[in-house]
Amino acid sequence: MSLARGKSLDIGTIGKTRDDLPAFGDTPEQSRFDFRQWWTADRCALPFELEIGSGKGTFLVQQAQQLGDVNYLGIEYIHEIWRYAADRIRRNALSHVRLLCYDATVFLGWFCPDAVFRQAHIYFPDPWPKKRHHKRRLIQVEFLQQLHRTLTPTGLVRLVTDHDDYFAWIEEQLAQTQELFSVEPFETPASAEPGEIVGTNFERKYRREGRPFHALTLQKL
Ligand SMILES: C[S@@+](CC[C@H](N)C(=O)[O-])C[C@H]1O[C@@H](n2cnc3c(N)ncnc32)[C@H](O)[C@@H]1O
Repeated sequence: MSLARGKSLDIGTIGKTRDDLPAFGDTPEQSRFDFRQWWTADRCALPFELEIGSGKGTFLVQQAQQLGDVNYLGIEYIHEIWRYAADRIRRNALSHVRLLCYDATVFLGWFCPDAVFRQAHIYFPDPWPKKRHHKRRLIQVEFLQQLHRTLTPTGLVRLVTDHDDYFAWIEEQLAQTQELFSVEPFETPASAEPGEIVGTNFERKYRREGRPFHALTLQKL
């Protein structure tokens, strides 16, 4: 991925890193950190939404421009891409967005408090197609358990992938966590362009290639 202007990027107050999280406690429960302090106190009464794997930040920019009364936390673990996206969000003056450069599975498992997100967005997660790499896939039983814990009681997960094998894998993981979520039809977010499911960079690229998509919503039970 070519990310121009690397040296002139400015993450401003949008970008957060491992340094903005506390040290690990002995257990996940002792490590919980209320990341909502990254927003001003007056905004903390508003809903919080999470995007995992924000890439260049297209979903966050488009959606946050339309919904000023939602606080968005994006997580992207590749530093170069995170810097590009944080700069882009800052340039768009979207001060209600924060973008964390960290592994989302560790953030959710260790640091994230219970029942904080109204929605989690996961668009085009890396498919890791080789069998020996399946353990690297984001969607795993334990990850779904952590998502469930961190959603509000009526929370939703919105998920899209182009990858048939990964989608079959996701269905297997969901079959093992049936008590956590019901599977519902996907609702296109307000910021998508006509004919799009979400309108992320990967969706636009894959749409040009004519790939089909799988999209679903998980409703917390
Ligand atoms: C295929 S890209 C999709 C980007 C964007 N969502 C889109 O649709 O254009 C997946 C992104 O998720 C990021 N990612 C994958 N696993 C992650 C994790 N555990 N924590 C944070 N970011 C992750 C990757 O670095 C990559 O930028």
